[in-house]
Amino acid sequence: MNTSEFIAKSIENVVEKASYTWQTPSNIALVKYWGKSNPQIPKNASISFTLNNCHTITTIDFSKKEKSESVDFDLFFEGKQKAEFKPKIADFFKRIQEYCPYILDYTMTIHSQNSFPHSSGIASSASGLSAIAMCLMSLEKEINPNLAEEFINKKASFLARLGSGSASRSVEGPLVVWGTHPEIEGSSDLFGVKFPLKVHSIFKNYQDIILLVDKGEKQVSSTVGHNLMHNHPYAENRFFQANENLTKMATILQGGDIKEFINLVESEALTLHAMMLTSNPYFILMKPNTLKVIQKIWNYREENNSNICFTLDAGANVHVLFPEHEKEAVNEFVKNELAVYCQKNQYICDNVGLGAKEI
Ligand code: PMV
Repeated sequence: MNTSEFIAKSIENVVEKASYTWQTPSNIALVKYWGKSNPQIPKNASISFTLNNCHTITTIDFSKKEKSESVDFDLFFEGKQKAEFKPKIADFFKRIQEYCPYILDYTMTIHSQNSFPHSSGIASSASGLSAIAMCLMSLEKEINPNLAEEFINKKASFLARLGSGSASRSVEGPLVVWGTHPEIEGSSDLFGVKFPLKVHSIFKNYQDIILLVDKGEKQVSSTVGHNLMHNHPYAENRFFQANENLTKMATILQGGDIKEFINLVESEALTLHAMMLTSNPYFILMKPNTLKVIQKIWNYREENNSNICFTLDAGANVHVLFPEHEKEAVNEFVKNELAVYCQKNQYICDNVGLGAKEI
């Protein structure tokens, strides 16, 4: 696998001081990634909707200094210095140093905030790491002004992936594929690419209401979960199935068969959790209210001839997905019947978005 194109080369401009702010989204996978090999190479291809309202806003102030051996940075999360987040980011910088050697020439001050609770199964690492990657690419562009936008997005996704796999899908939108797949032209294990085929209008501006069933920290991190796919009795079948499901999803997204969409999305969510239930050690990330909500969604769909469906990430929260024309009715349903299953009645109304924005 050739990664040399991502190594920053000549320095055209000396940049003494700079500051960039990026807003980058979370994403919700329709075909899930679960299982990887080093360095952050997925065992199967995945596809996600990019979200709009669930995002991270990050500013990095860069100040030039003597080159050092290790990366020098301060990290503030929602205005407060966060020592507990530092090791993960330090580790990320170490992994990307080879591709962005210029980071050793700067003191970096990072200020970050989320529009949603971190470590709650909403992909905060996805938006968080893609935001840092975009800020670094802004600096790289100032150092090397002839970088093309396409390369900037590709390298940002490549860098973000080295921090958290799903972060590679949080640079562009509305649909991103990550992982080499024979039917997706340009797809790669190294970075996410925009879904290259024409998407049926039913999936335009698709809606996602995220029910915050449990906002607590996950008992099992996704790193541990991915590792449990090594020696998992069903792993190879699962990786094969996910790639097949991506083929099916590509057809559905083009043709607009929403019943098939619902079936595939829900099956993917339950299969992801089935992998957790059948690993050793086994674990359960769903909560009783997750199941109650799923039952309610099924009843509502049946009784109202609706096209809502659910999906889950590695957590207890439920994403309720539906076409835009059902927005008013589903909003009422969620407010009246699902909010009670959420912690403090909290949920987030979101829709599909277009990716990272500089602000
Ligand atoms: O990116 P990670 O390592 O946090 O893995 C997340 C995997 C899932 O969210 C469960 C599925 C996916 O494809 O986003």
